[in-house]
Amino acid sequence: MFYRGRRLRKNPVIRTMMQETTLHKSDLILPIFVCEGTNIYKEIESLKGHYHYSIDNLYKVVDEMNSSGILSCILFGIVEHKDACGSEAYNDNGIIQQAIKKIKELNKDIYVIADVCMCEYTDHGHCGILDSDGYVNNDKTLKYLSKIALSYAHAGVDMVAPSDMMDGHILALRNVLDENGFINLPIMGYSAKFASAYYGHFREAAHSAPSFGDRQSYQMDFHNGQEALREVEADINEGADMIMVKPAMAYLDIIKEVSLNYNMPLCAYQVSGEYAMLVSAVEHGLMKESVIEESLIAIKRAGAQLIITYFALDIAKRLTY
Ligand code: PBG
Ligand code: ZN
Repeated sequence: MFYRGRRLRKNPVIRTMMQETTLHKSDLILPIFVCEGTNIYKEIESLKGHYHYSIDNLYKVVDEMNSSGILSCILFGIVEHKDACGSEAYNDNGIIQQAIKKIKELNKDIYVIADVCMCEYTDHGHCGILDSDGYVNNDKTLKYLSKIALSYAHAGVDMVAPSDMMDGHILALRNVLDENGFINLPIMGYSAKFASAYYGHFREAAHSAPSFGDRQSYQMDFHNGQEALREVEADINEGADMIMVKPAMAYLDIIKEVSLNYNMPLCAYQVSGEYAMLVSAVEHGLMKESVIEESLIAIKRAGAQLIITYFALDIAKRLTY
């Protein structure tokens, strides 16, 4: 006797019945890039199929969300004025604050997450406040991240997601939110975020590349898996409601390990470079389009419950619910 696995692969019905992993629209979070100015709807060179939207044009993407059934998004801002402390990020009338209000006005049921970081707003492009020697000062940065998160909270955001990789950032945000009455506002930590070459397309899209050096003194070294568990554990202990692994496809081992070790809602970020690679492979006829769904299923099978992905709207058209 031998194992006849093919018995349960005989036709589409039994194959569907046997599927261990599913993908639903509610698993997917759409990144949106919002810019200053009016009447701007400009395709992003490095992220074809994605756009810079001015506030007055946000209805375009909200309409697409409504019709495709993707009801959650994460916001990134592009601003003109940048300075050493990223002051536009905590301007109560800043681009993200306006976008939060606008999206809620267009459809109050859309779940709006705001990425909390400084790199899109600092003139040097790093994710925090610099010391005179160019080192990102952890504890000074926490004060600014707190101001940013609080400002987004006042604007009516549903969830904040700090992507800066400063130590103690979840605790700092939890404290400031609680002190100001936002006890029910959840925090998603970008817990295991690796210093990665997969972010290049995003940095072009968000005008957030560092003007000198790199992010290796705060983002994680991609040689390390055990350290990822320590980062996740720290975020959980500080009060994170959700945790994240980023990037996704080259880090499925980390997603798996985190999901097995911690009983916490886990999100994975299929980042810009992953999107660009797959889009290019399909465009050039190197792979069939189904490779996109395969990539998302792999991320879920590894243990992610939610996926932030630039494919959210496209893939939703092929999902029934
Ligand atoms: C900001 C931030 C980055 C991404 C999400 N938030 C860029 C970075 O850390 O340099 C990357 C997302 C992507 O590549 O799609 N800290
Ligand atoms: Zn950043």
